[in-house]
Amino acid sequence: MTTSIATPNRRSFLLGTAGLVASAAALRFPTPAIAQAAPFRVGFMLPYSGTFAKLGEFVDAGFRLQVESMGGQLGGRPVEFVNVDDESKPETATDNMNRLVGREKVDVVVGTVHSGVAMAMVKVARDTGTMLVIPNAGVNEATGPMCAPNIFRTSFSNWQVCHPMGKVMHDAGHRRVVTISWRYAAGDQMIGAFKEGFTDAGGEVVEELALPFPEVEFQALITRIATLKPDAVFAFFAGGGAVKFVKDYAAAGLHGQIPLYGSGFLTDGTIEAQGAAANGVRTTLHYADDLDNPANVAFLKAFRDKTGKVGDIYSVQGWDAASLIDVGLKATDGDWSAREAAVAAMRGAKLDSPRGPLSFNKAGNPIQNIYLREVRDGRNAMVEIAEASVDDPARGCRSGA
Ligand code: PHB
Repeated sequence: MTTSIATPNRRSFLLGTAGLVASAAALRFPTPAIAQAAPFRVGFMLPYSGTFAKLGEFVDAGFRLQVESMGGQLGGRPVEFVNVDDESKPETATDNMNRLVGREKVDVVVGTVHSGVAMAMVKVARDTGTMLVIPNAGVNEATGPMCAPNIFRTSFSNWQVCHPMGKVMHDAGHRRVVTISWRYAAGDQMIGAFKEGFTDAGGEVVEELALPFPEVEFQALITRIATLKPDAVFAFFAGGGAVKFVKDYAAAGLHGQIPLYGSGFLTDGTIEAQGAAANGVRTTLHYADDLDNPANVAFLKAFRDKTGKVGDIYSVQGWDAASLIDVGLKATDGDWSAREAAVAAMRGAKLDSPRGPLSFNKAGNPIQNIYLREVRDGRNAMVEIAEASVDDPARGCRSGA
């Protein structure tokens, strides 16, 4: 675990320091004014190692960039960060989350990427009332049956990004499709959502191929695809696994023979490493590299200036997580204990995100455009809006805000 403090501007640093030394008694029983000047503690629980390492790093970088652009503050309070590498391991997720909430006493947890890890985090957040902002993991339950006023997502639900692809692929003339993914919550739910959209449109999923997360021995499954000769393939992989799958698919000679589609994670954040193997791959996602709205143009420039790298959906989701928390804190003049007011402001937030307009449903899940993209010249270029303002059905969510 590492701790760091955002570079605050001079005024916020002095305010924070003055608040801390004001009075020992007040520190034990903080008055709202002193609590509001104290550093706001953000706990990042993200993968910084393993197949999703780059994804976690980009969420982190996007969040920090937005904090920096707001003068090192969220809602006027200086910010401290605590990082935990969750390694995308569900088995250690509860302990990691408890450490952030208990020992580190963070004000909010921002995490994570992996759906299975996120499920454990959601349980702890519900038990302890800790504010949780999920900047990637799409597990449907987080904003479905496990929804709660203190749980938000600035990413997507697994259903939301894949359901529109069913109609897109059917409209493209594909009737018999093979799916392939990792066998865990995200893979199962993304394939399930695609299948729902595709079969409703009149298509047939002829075989669902899967391997355990995070295995990357794709060869036998790719051979099976070649044998089945479907009209097209729909895939969910992400991070390092997605790089290898797209390259293996092309190396097997299937590129150009059987069109490859997927959720956008197949080529987002991975496109550079995939090279020519990714050309022509079509995906649906709530982002495209070339969205020419002013927020995206400014974001990509700022991200490149700061990191020297090309921003992607993971960095956008991190950036928006910081924007959302800022809305909650500002609504209460920095008093995070005024929970109801903060939550109401966050549920009602309308963010000018690099992805386009971003608002939230009663379960705290984004309402957003889902774009059809195609890899062209090393970019995820927008083809069209596959479906505008897609809301997740939030099946099973009863509490809401
Ligand atoms: C997930 O596990 O929910 C997940 C992981 C990586 C992605 C997208 C979703 O890129």
